[in-house]
Amino acid sequence: MLQSQLCRETDFSQTWFVDACVKLNEPMRFHRKLWEWCYIYEALRERGKLMPFRRGLGFGVGKEPLAAAFASQGAEIVATDLDVDLAKAQGWVDTNQHAVGLADLNEKGLCDPHQFQQLVSYESADMNNIHPKYTGQFDFTWSSCSFEHLGSIEHGKRFIVNQMKCLRPGGVAVHTTEYNLTSNVATLEAPVLVIFRHQDIEAMVAELRGEGYLVTVDYTAGAGPFESYVDLPPYSNPVHLRLLLGQYVSTSIGLIIEKP
Ligand SMILES: C[S@@+](CC[C@H](N)C(=O)[O-])C[C@H]1O[C@@H](n2cnc3c(N)ncnc32)[C@H](O)[C@@H]1O
Repeated sequence: MLQSQLCRETDFSQTWFVDACVKLNEPMRFHRKLWEWCYIYEALRERGKLMPFRRGLGFGVGKEPLAAAFASQGAEIVATDLDVDLAKAQGWVDTNQHAVGLADLNEKGLCDPHQFQQLVSYESADMNNIHPKYTGQFDFTWSSCSFEHLGSIEHGKRFIVNQMKCLRPGGVAVHTTEYNLTSNVATLEAPVLVIFRHQDIEAMVAELRGEGYLVTVDYTAGAGPFESYVDLPPYSNPVHLRLLLGQYVSTSIGLIIEKP
C-alpha cells in the first residue's frame, strides 16, 4: 500500500501509476503534478474509498480531473474551491487554475454526465476557515497542490490538522504539496506560496499522531536520471519532477492520514 512519500521516478513505471493515468485520461509524462493526481487516486482506491456509498470532500480543486474520476467510480463528491472574487485577487482565475462551478470539473468527460450531475456538487470553501457543516461527514478528503498557498507555513499546518475533523471514523485524507529538497532550515515563505521543509512535515506528523491519527512517512528522494533533473523557470521542460523555486529545489510530497 502507498504511504506518505516524496515524488519518485520509480513510481512512474508502477502498474498503479499507469492504471491511474488511464482512469484520469492523462498521457504518461514525468511531471510532478501528474504524480500528485495519480498518487491521490491510488491512495484512495487501494483503501476502498472510490466506490458507491463513499463520500469525498475535495479542497482547492481548480480544474483537476479527480472529482470526475472519483464520481465515475460511484463515489459522491463535494468539490470545493476558494470564492471566485478571492481567487481572482490571488491570480488563480487568470492562470486558469480555479474552478467556478460544476462545468469545470468534468471537462474531459471522465464521468457519464448524468452520473456526474447526481454525484458531484460544487461549493466555495476557504481552506483557512473550514465550515463546521463538514464535520464528520466524509469517508475521504483530498487536495492537490493547494495547501502551500494558504498564506504561511503555519496556515498549511493548521489546514492539515483541521481538515481531519471532516472525516468519519475509518476515513482517510490524502493531500499533496511542495517539499524543500535543498534545506531543512531556510525556505520560501511568501503569502502566495510556501515550500514545506522536512521539519514542517515532521511537526504536522507529530501533531497528527498526537491526536491519534495514523501516518507513515518515507522521505527517500531517489537519484534516478529524471528525478535528478531540476526544471528552471519558465518550467517548460517535459521532465518536471523537481523544480527550482527561488533558490530551493522542490518536489512533491503526499501525505496519507488515516482516522482510526
Ligand atoms: C495551484 S492551484 C491547484 C488546483 C488543483 N488542485 C490542481 O491540482 O490542478 C491552487 C488552488 O488552491 C486554491 N486555493 C488557494 N487558496 C485557497 C484557500 N484559502 N481556500 C481554498 N482554496 C484555495 C486556488 O483557488 C486553486 O484552485
